[in-house]
Amino acid sequence: MFVPIIALAGLATACGDHHLPVRGEVYSQSRVEKQEYLQVPLTPPHRPIVWGDFNVIHTTDTHGWLLGHPKNSFPEPNFSGDLGDFASFVTHMKYIAKQKGVDLLLIDSGDLHDGSGLSDGYAPGAIDAHESNKFVERLPYDVMAIGNHELYVYADTYDMYQSFIPHFEGRYLTSNVNITIFDSDGKAVSVPVGSRYAKFTTAMGRRVTSLGVLFNFTGNVHNTTVQPVAEMIEESWFVEAIAEEPDVFVLAGHMPVSNDSWPVVFNAIHAPTAVQKWAGHTHIRDCQQYDSRSMAMESGRYMETIGWMSANLDAGKGNANDIEFSRRYLDQNRVTYQYHTRASNSTFDTRYGRSITEGLQDLAEQYNLSYQYGVSPRDYTMTR
Ligand SMILES: *[C@@H]1O[C@H](CO)[C@@H](O)[C@H](O)[C@H]1NC(C)=O
Ligand SMILES: *[C@@H]1O[C@H](CO)[C@@H](O)[C@H](O)[C@H]1NC(C)=O
Ligand SMILES: *[C@@H]1O[C@H](CO)[C@@H](O)[C@H](O)[C@H]1NC(C)=O
Ligand SMILES: *[C@@H]1O[C@H](CO)[C@@H](O)[C@H](O)[C@H]1NC(C)=O
Ligand SMILES: *[C@@H]1O[C@H](CO)[C@@H](O)[C@H](O)[C@H]1NC(C)=O
Ligand SMILES: *[C@@H]1O[C@H](CO)[C@@H](O)[C@H](O)[C@H]1NC(C)=O
Ligand SMILES: *[C@@H]1O[C@H](CO)[C@@H](O)[C@H](O)[C@H]1NC(C)=O
Ligand SMILES: [Zn+2]
Ligand SMILES: [Zn+2]
Repeated sequence: MFVPIIALAGLATACGDHHLPVRGEVYSQSRVEKQEYLQVPLTPPHRPIVWGDFNVIHTTDTHGWLLGHPKNSFPEPNFSGDLGDFASFVTHMKYIAKQKGVDLLLIDSGDLHDGSGLSDGYAPGAIDAHESNKFVERLPYDVMAIGNHELYVYADTYDMYQSFIPHFEGRYLTSNVNITIFDSDGKAVSVPVGSRYAKFTTAMGRRVTSLGVLFNFTGNVHNTTVQPVAEMIEESWFVEAIAEEPDVFVLAGHMPVSNDSWPVVFNAIHAPTAVQKWAGHTHIRDCQQYDSRSMAMESGRYMETIGWMSANLDAGKGNANDIEFSRRYLDQNRVTYQYHTRASNSTFDTRYGRSITEGLQDLAEQYNLSYQYGVSPRDYTMTR
């Protein structure tokens, strides 16, 4: 997606509600006010999520929308949670996973930059998403993949390389994306922005191999390199990385589940091992099953959707059996979060989550995001 489209789509809201709150009102509400005075009641989800022995929570294409969508016009209330609420949700879910004795991973498929005031409202001379990413790095992500929006401005990519990626200790993956930097001798060298792959063992002892692949993107800024996916699979590091068969391949990638290079990666691996693919970029909820032991899922955009997928890997052991997957697209709001964690308003929030929400609200204030330029008498939508 291109920058202007995202900026416009971010402004577009739903038709129908002529009583739009102004941004100032919304952003200056304290956490407690927002909880108690949410104007629009939301229906809880229809049914609980299905847990397996291997479970993943997924975000993608958040583009800085870390305070969610605070207006009253539908469907914004459905997406009215924020990153602090999400952090509390993840904490509760991790606890539930531990009680059940199952794995739960947290994955993101890229595009952290460009699209909201929290990422783009920085003062002249500062760097896009440098501040908002400080909140993202507080979430316990197991795997993250780079998106094309990390590659439009060299300073953004370099900032990721220098200050953001080190927090993920080898789990921020850029399998086919390099950055050119000066080494200690002042020589220009091309190096992977993050790590090319990661191998790790889960809490329940499952061996995971992960990649973070970007589609054949060609609009990247000078001094960054995107290698075509078809060339990446010929690299000796790639061949070595996939040679050892893990219990499950967890492939993160900034490319859509359909009509892109996923088949290239998937066919290169062609192991009978279980494969999960976590996709992004086209900003839609989508899913595609490549064979009976794999599943690819894409979880929307802008902190609207949280993806959920579980698999029963133990039952599918032996590499000949089909694997049972279950998936769900969760609306990003507190009602959803509380429903799935059986928490109430008084038990849901964690101190950690609240501190993230408050930090983001402070950032919104610092960036003057509540300044009212005018009031639109109605909503204008682009694509709904
Ligand atoms: C919890 O808070 C929401 C607002 O976020 C409110 O609509 C709901 O009634 C509250 N639930 C209870 C049980 O108090
Ligand atoms: C928003 O949530 C309501 C239930 O509260 C549901 O009926 C509706 O389909 C949802 N809309 C979107 C766009 O997700
Ligand atoms: C990026 O490219 C320009 C032009 O080729 C070069 O002058 C500059 O030193 C490069 N920057 C880095 C960090 O390599
Ligand atoms: C990426 O960096 C590695 C390590 O420096 C280098 O070997 C490789 O050739 C680079 N790849 C591309 C496509 O520039
Ligand atoms: C894109 O993918 C969908 C779903 O797999 C498929 O039905 C469609 O034919 C594909 N379109 C193109 C142009 O390849
Ligand atoms: C990606 O690039 C490679 C090599 O340039 C090409 O063979 C392939 O068809 C491209 N794939 C897509 C999905 O555009
Ligand atoms: C916020 O931005 C507006 C518009 O640029 C400006 O008039 C106002 O003084 C700013 N307020 C603060 C507190 O910076
Ligand atoms: Zn995106
Ligand atoms: Zn993208």
